[in-house]
Amino acid sequence: MSSPSSHQLHPASVIASSGAPLRLYGKRIVVRPLVATDFEAWSEVRHRNGEWLSKWEPIKSAYLPDPATNRDAFNNRCTARDRERQTGGSYAFGIFIEGSFAGEVNINNVVRSAMQCGTIGYWIDVARAGKSYMSEAVLVVSKYAFEDLGLHRMEICIIPRNYNSCRVMEKLGIRQEGLAERFLEINGVWEDHVRYGFTVEEWRQRSEQLSAEWLQ
Ligand SMILES: CC(C)(COP(=O)(O)OP(=O)(O)OC[C@H]1O[C@@H](n2cnc3c(N)ncnc32)[C@H](O)[C@@H]1OP(=O)(O)O)[C@@H](O)C(=O)NCCC(=O)NCCS
Repeated sequence: MSSPSSHQLHPASVIASSGAPLRLYGKRIVVRPLVATDFEAWSEVRHRNGEWLSKWEPIKSAYLPDPATNRDAFNNRCTARDRERQTGGSYAFGIFIEGSFAGEVNINNVVRSAMQCGTIGYWIDVARAGKSYMSEAVLVVSKYAFEDLGLHRMEICIIPRNYNSCRVMEKLGIRQEGLAERFLEINGVWEDHVRYGFTVEEWRQRSEQLSAEWLQ
């Protein structure tokens, strides 16, 4: 049985509500919440990566303004994510390389109580692909989840034919748990997903080696 304290909101989940800037660091990347002034950079990258990303994402609603073209919608997206961070439901971050916006990595669907878990989602600008930046980003947010938010388990779910994303898991040695059939509706289709799991026990066992390789 886990201790009662592990069922409470961890203090680090309140950092963002204080307005203090949250910055997480890998060897080559900085990870931070997106803010209104990131609109131009985010919009440029999203436009240029339309085809690269749309096949791995849910279809966008035709009834909602597109944050890639509409500044107010982008601001609202930032505000909604700030609120989610403050209430501990999810933790969304931009990835920055040499000061430039390069993609996103999120801890979504945070469940507390007996579960203490979150789901990691990510994408990177195709112009930055192939340099293992996402392995670094996954470790940066996993460390934050385990050591600051007090979560017990991270999950990453990937369509089996998304070879590039499966490679991120392979490079990090994250454990494959099995196939969830018709798990998420991606680009209009209920797609099977391979589930990968990473628990705090595994992090503790491997953190020295993983940190030396990707974070320090
Ligand atoms: C999945 C993704 C985040 C991987 O990020 P990354 O930082 O490029 O990861 P890696 O550098 O480890 O590359 C993984 C594999 O992608 C392939 N790859 C590399 N550069 C590529 C490029 N320019 N174009 C296409 N594929 C490329 C390679 O096979 C590479 O494996 P390798 O290093 O063994 O050769 C990225 O491919 C992406 O954003 N894809 C679109 C969105 C997506 O799939 N999100 C995840 C949904 S689960």
